[in-house]
Amino acid sequence: MQDRAAQLRQLLNAHAHRYYVLDAPSIPDAEYDRLFKELQAIEAADPALLTPDSPTQRVGAAAVDAFASVPHRVPMLSIHTETDITDQGAVAFDQRVRKQLQLSESDAAVAYVAELKFDGLAISLRYNNHVLVQAATRGDGETGEDVTHNIRTIGQIPLRLSPQAPPDVEVRGEIYMRRDDFEALNERQRHRIAAGIKNEKTFVNPRNAAAGAVRQLDPQIAAQRPLSFFAYALHFHPPKPQALTPLEATLWGLQDYGSQAEVLQCLKAWGFAVAEQTQTVSGAQGLVQFHAQIAKLRDQLPFDIDGVVYKVNRIDQQGLMGMVSREPRWAVAHKFPAQEELTTVLAIDIQVGRTGKLTPVAKLAPVFVGGVTVTNATLHNEDEARRKDVRVGDTVVVRRAGDVIPEVVSVLIEKRLNQATVFTMPRHCPVCASQAVREEGEADYRCTGGLFCSAQQKQAILHFAHRRAVEIEDLGEKLVDQLVDSGLVKTLADVYKLGFSHLASLERMGEKSAHNLLSSLEKSKSTTLPRFVFGLGIRHVGEATAKDLARHFGGIDAIMNASIEQLLQVHDVGPVVAQSLRTFFDQAHNREVVEQLQACGVLWPEADPQGRLDLPLTGHTYVITGTLPTLSREQAQSLLEAAGAKVAGSVSKKTTGVIAGEAAGSKLEKALRLNIPVLNEAGLLVLLKPVA
Ligand code: IVH
Repeated sequence: MQDRAAQLRQLLNAHAHRYYVLDAPSIPDAEYDRLFKELQAIEAADPALLTPDSPTQRVGAAAVDAFASVPHRVPMLSIHTETDITDQGAVAFDQRVRKQLQLSESDAAVAYVAELKFDGLAISLRYNNHVLVQAATRGDGETGEDVTHNIRTIGQIPLRLSPQAPPDVEVRGEIYMRRDDFEALNERQRHRIAAGIKNEKTFVNPRNAAAGAVRQLDPQIAAQRPLSFFAYALHFHPPKPQALTPLEATLWGLQDYGSQAEVLQCLKAWGFAVAEQTQTVSGAQGLVQFHAQIAKLRDQLPFDIDGVVYKVNRIDQQGLMGMVSREPRWAVAHKFPAQEELTTVLAIDIQVGRTGKLTPVAKLAPVFVGGVTVTNATLHNEDEARRKDVRVGDTVVVRRAGDVIPEVVSVLIEKRLNQATVFTMPRHCPVCASQAVREEGEADYRCTGGLFCSAQQKQAILHFAHRRAVEIEDLGEKLVDQLVDSGLVKTLADVYKLGFSHLASLERMGEKSAHNLLSSLEKSKSTTLPRFVFGLGIRHVGEATAKDLARHFGGIDAIMNASIEQLLQVHDVGPVVAQSLRTFFDQAHNREVVEQLQACGVLWPEADPQGRLDLPLTGHTYVITGTLPTLSREQAQSLLEAAGAKVAGSVSKKTTGVIAGEAAGSKLEKALRLNIPVLNEAGLLVLLKPVA
């Protein structure tokens, strides 16, 4: 039994190494579980066979009341941070190293190991007879905290070193949380909070989440927090107490290894994860290249780093260099611009989007974060702003990672000024002063200014000019930008007031284009009521609703003046649409634009309200499918509707007929199956003849 237990421990630890460190499991999870259970059973039957390096002992240690303090036998030093975040930081370090090593210009380039600077927390792992016996945090560098119970739960940390390792060592490295693990953890936390579980919270960033997990008193909780580990240093203890300087203690026993590169190689061979991005490079140029390469890679790494670390590779050279104030001279941390910074909120502005959406934006005291100076950060909407409770004057954490837009992560409540007032969304549009409303079930406030609001003008004009609205050919996005930005056009009606001289004055506008646009404008003036109503861009009023409204009321005045009750009479108009129409037409300037458009000559054939019951195709429903030889689908639809027919999107038993063109597919098949008459374009024109 004892042999079998030892064999199982070895097997399981080897598989754990393949799974967690090498990312290359060689047996299915179920097989691992089977072996694990077998070992558990043996240990349960005979507790004397239980050893500290048994994988069954990763979880299951009892919770502690407090952390025991651990004096570090080799002090945990810190690293000097190179303040120049350009590649000159690397050049400056190399110069200092050469000077301290008294190298002259003719001497060869210094060899360095360039590593990632992991954004986690340093941990020291003590192995006795190859077995992990203690894990301690850095603390103040002299004394840390015993967190062995939590560290054991981390699959990437070997409980037993491979046999070729020296039996008694101290291995140091960084505990961190991968970004995907962090996201998943927060997702889980959100569910727990939503489920009403007390004292749960989400974490601000992977480092905080990792630090929180390592300092859990209960290893059961730590075990649920997915932690990872990279090793980067090895230490030995002097065989008998000696008065060693911190530097001597740090380097004790490492002479046998010759270099940091060899140390890392050994750590890898003994079962630790070592970052694959680590490189041995030569001279300042090698450091600069590494720095640039990692800066580019930074956002694609599966974990956060806050810079790179350069270490003189040769241990003997490290020994020659000495220390200044707890920092060895042979290593330097060359940071990248931080992705999170503190700054203050100067104001909360409201931005008006293309569809009238109001977005609160924090105006910030300029802060250099993620490589750029940030002065704005979105607060998304009222609920988000409330949730984070951002107030003017607050000190906030701003994050900008990669190309993602900067955002306020959290507020430092303890720094809040007494007079800071809670943010509320304005009830009026900051651009045009129209009422701002937030509809039930929606996150956003919207400006009701519609066509009058300058922020919405461009969008409104483009919508009005759309092929399915009044259709103004040649009026594209770039031109609309130019017209609005130059102040030539403010309202839809202004578009029709443009003369040749106005257009010709625009940059990049040739004579021919100006003429083309003017003739498109003329052409667009004769339109239909549904196209006109749709073109106004009223929220929730799409093409179908515009048609229903036109059919029901017959004229624009009747639509503008209809009460909610009257609007609700219209086929397919519910309270949301009715309210949206009312809100739109209650704004005097929207009515003005409608009047001006008409005054400019935008007209349509008037119809009798509810009337036209006598039209030849009233009560008939047609479906158009495939490509017709000369008519566009829109044209065919308009013709049918002008004759009183409805045009539907799908074929049913109620369909009167199907107009089929080339490449008609399933709709045609269905019509044939249901014995519904099928017409081609010529047939359609015959059908329409009496009204044409
Ligand atoms: S070496 C004598 N290497 O940065 C040098 N530190 O003080 C001892 N860190 O909190 C540290 N990545 O946790 C070293 N590749 C790396 C590192 C690294 C991150 C952290 C370490 C410590 C701080 C430096």
